[in-house]
Amino acid sequence: MDDYSVFGERERKGWADDSVAENYVTRFGPITDRIAEQLVSVVAPGPGRDILDLCCGQGNLTARLTESGAKVEGLDFSPTMLEKAARAAPAASLRQGDAQNLPYGEASFDAVTCNFGIPHVPDYNRVLSEVRRVLRPGGTFAFTCWAAPEANPAFGTALRAIKTHADLSSAPPQPDFFQFAHRETAETLLQAAGFRLAAHDILHFTWRLDAPGDLFDIYANATVAVSMLLKSQSAEIVDRIRGEMTAKVEADFAADGGYVVPVPAAMIVARP
Ligand SMILES: C[S@@+](CC[C@H](N)C(=O)[O-])C[C@H]1O[C@@H](n2cnc3c(N)ncnc32)[C@H](O)[C@@H]1O
Repeated sequence: MDDYSVFGERERKGWADDSVAENYVTRFGPITDRIAEQLVSVVAPGPGRDILDLCCGQGNLTARLTESGAKVEGLDFSPTMLEKAARAAPAASLRQGDAQNLPYGEASFDAVTCNFGIPHVPDYNRVLSEVRRVLRPGGTFAFTCWAAPEANPAFGTALRAIKTHADLSSAPPQPDFFQFAHRETAETLLQAAGFRLAAHDILHFTWRLDAPGDLFDIYANATVAVSMLLKSQSAEIVDRIRGEMTAKVEADFAADGGYVVPVPAAMIVARP
């Protein structure tokens, strides 16, 4: 297997950072909240159901799941995010832990959710087999990731500018962040872990921005891997990336007195 350990350590450090966590919740949170609504409808929580919310982060989905009366566990490795989850989802049982090594017995849950967590984990195959292990027969695994850059104007704009201008030699290797956004890849990986793909849907959302430079600010301040990459670049390179992203937003996404940038996501539902 490729060595993604440096990537994994950076993720661990990044999500524990107060500023990244706060900016993530402010900028990405409003969209991931809306996607959380869809995950709730897929797993149909309710009294008597045991549900694990993996990579629960700020506890937005965790809280919605508890509102149904289900017994909910939230797991995340970031103490900073878990503090937020404790405020958002007081009825949930929260644990600090690694998605690659779940501290639960076999067949403990009726459903497992994971809203935008798996692309951040180095050994995603291990996560899938751990989820399979803790799910009960007939259970549901529902998770999300961002749509691939070629079909995702927000991520496409950012990653194109970075690929064009950045020196990527210092970036640690990492798994393909968008692999589960491709239906066939998702199906192959899930099947190898003992799942059947039940649904793979692209959901459409937008970022409403006040200024064309806001898209750069989001990636520079509210992400882990991209923000670290930008910090490793010279001021001149960062200016070029900011300039290209800002010009693209101004040219292509002006609407409603501001800027509206599509940021679609994939929602994947799998069953044992
Ligand atoms: C993009 S955020 C998603 C937060 C939230 N689920 C949402 O809907 O917005 C990714 C979350 O996964 C957590 N995470 C990343 N890698 C993890 C791992 N290996 N084990 C547990 N949590 C992890 C991070 O701490 C962070 O809270």
